Amino acid sequence: MNKLDISKISKQIKEYGVFSQKNIFDKNEFELISNQLKNLTKKEKKIYFPINFKDYLFKILKIDFDKIILKKKLVELADKLDFSKIAAESLGDNVYLEVLDCYLSKKSKDTILEWHNDIGYKFNSMNAKKDFLEKAKSTIYNQKTKKSSMGIKFFIYITDVKSNDGALGIIPYSHKVVYALTNLILEKKIELKTYWKLKDLRNIILQDENKKHFLDYIDKSELERFIEKTKFVETSAEETLEFDFALNKNSAVIFDEMAVHRGSAPTYNDRLVLRYLYRRKL
Ligand SMILES: [Fe+2]
Repeated sequence: MNKLDISKISKQIKEYGVFSQKNIFDKNEFELISNQLKNLTKKEKKIYFPINFKDYLFKILKIDFDKIILKKKLVELADKLDFSKIAAESLGDNVYLEVLDCYLSKKSKDTILEWHNDIGYKFNSMNAKKDFLEKAKSTIYNQKTKKSSMGIKFFIYITDVKSNDGALGIIPYSHKVVYALTNLILEKKIELKTYWKLKDLRNIILQDENKKHFLDYIDKSELERFIEKTKFVETSAEETLEFDFALNKNSAVIFDEMAVHRGSAPTYNDRLVLRYLYRRKL
């Protein structure tokens, strides 16, 4: 793979929320890491690569040298392709690699993760509200809190994926709607309610008293387009395939975590993905 066009990609991520790229790594390099990741995930389904010193110490004590060497290779590959520069330019800020992991989803009829956005509030613990507000403040106001701000995810398919077979679906422009709502909640113009799920997010937007506030942040046409494009959650019993990134192995889907996305069921094949997550350095 030649150098990626940083400004073209980040421009597209800022505008649409997502960019995809086939043959992201050199063929030989891809084969090498793909074999190693497949071997590692035979033992454990999810592999976290050590990023900070504490993780390192832990891994060394466990004599997990395979992972340390592979992590070095994976970071080198990312650096060669300027992943962090792409993330930095997309977010308009300095970034760091917060998570590097790889996970295997075994063949199954169950959706890996339904339509959702990563920041959206959901009441799942006693600290949910506090954690949400800290995440929102670091994301929207660039304020240093105990929770990291949302960032840019590089999702690299190690196995081929298709619609209804592990493909990631991402709704274009949806990150702008989620940014707007998170902003409006912090400003207390819209009451805090659960909006992790797409259906809940729509319910908030569709209330007339809320709708007008969105226009402080996004165009009416952008809001209407989102409402139209996401109608499927209300009406269709079938999963929509319109937004799927059905791509062969060694392809990358790079997206803003604020975008609405879902991982389709790996109905026919096991799915293996490698993920790099870059977040703002606050
Ligand atoms: Fe997610």
